[in-house]
Amino acid sequence: MNVNRIYLSSDYLPKLLPHRENQIKLLAKKIENFVKHGIESNIFIYGSQGIGKTATVKFVSKLAEENYNIKCIYINCWKNNTEASVLYEINKQLGIITHRRGLSTDELFDRFIEGLTKIAKRVCIIMDEIDKLEKRENLLYKFSRLDETGNKPLFIFIANKKDIFRLLDPRIQSSMFLDEIEFKKYALDELKDIFDERIKLAFENYEAGCSLLVANYSFNHESDVRYGLKLLLRASYIAEDENTKKLKVEHIKKAMKEIDDMDPKKESMIKQLKKELVDIIGLLKEENGITTTSKLFEKYRTIYPITVRTFRNYLKKLKESGIIEIEEHRGGERGSKFFVKLKV
Ligand SMILES: Nc1ncnc2c1ncn2[C@@H]1O[C@H](COP(=O)(O)OP(=O)(O)OP(=O)(O)O)[C@@H](O)[C@H]1O
Ligand SMILES: [Mg+2]
Repeated sequence: MNVNRIYLSSDYLPKLLPHRENQIKLLAKKIENFVKHGIESNIFIYGSQGIGKTATVKFVSKLAEENYNIKCIYINCWKNNTEASVLYEINKQLGIITHRRGLSTDELFDRFIEGLTKIAKRVCIIMDEIDKLEKRENLLYKFSRLDETGNKPLFIFIANKKDIFRLLDPRIQSSMFLDEIEFKKYALDELKDIFDERIKLAFENYEAGCSLLVANYSFNHESDVRYGLKLLLRASYIAEDENTKKLKVEHIKKAMKEIDDMDPKKESMIKQLKKELVDIIGLLKEENGITTTSKLFEKYRTIYPITVRTFRNYLKKLKESGIIEIEEHRGGERGSKFFVKLKV
């Protein structure tokens, strides 16, 4: 069976985002206003997990960069969860090269201000998962004091809970002028449209009933689209093992059962692994259980500064425990690729 698993990864940014048209329009309008008239208010997006917040913002920021003289900087505050690492990452994306260590946060901030004045573009800074940023008050306070004359950026903050700004110092709240955009959970028929698109991309052949079943599964998991993607991924392996040419409803049902019966022995084995290994599993889960070894290493390196060799040893241990599988895909433009698959 031909499966394009890249479309089942939650990192894949779809070209179509059904049922987020209103939010896309609203965001695009705000960015357009910002480019044309300068800052009016910043934006705060909130809503539960896996309902397209990140995808929508990335989609709109890409569009904005193609159409306006604007640079969009995307920061994930879970991966960069300190003031220094956020500033370092922003500077890097602004094209300011500094050494990661050796500069204080104040110095990093000065470079940032300098970078803003030098870049001949408007700047939009997207801070995703802002709730994961440690001591966020310090940095937000600095951001809220930025000077209008110094190419003040537009900020877009994203979080799950609405109240995260309510708990901040009122001075920050009032000077940030936050416009809130709520993302509501998808309804069942909306999820069906989303999975119709995704299945069409990933599978050449499929039974018509698949999308509703997957949509229903997501719907029963807080409408989190990632659950459905994970289910589809598992179903794709089942279909492949059966050597069929078509993704069938029965494959999805089997995948559901497999997930539900997840081997409790493996679960408890994972609990006994050392943290470095558990974190690899966590990153793999974020990728919907499949990614390339090089991509996984890049991500992992942002948490633990280890060598490729140590990383390979970790993967070997996980492979030996039956927790992951490594598959070589030959060919492609840049030679072979190694995929890591989560088996639990
Ligand atoms: N309307 C949609 N159309 C197509 N795919 C979608 C849509 N909404 C979400 N997805 C897909 O679902 C997955 C999760 O979406 P996303 O990462 O944007 O969620 P999120 O709201 O940012 O969640 P979290 O709060 O956990 O970060 C992504 O793969 C995304 O492409
Ligand atoms: Mg997100």
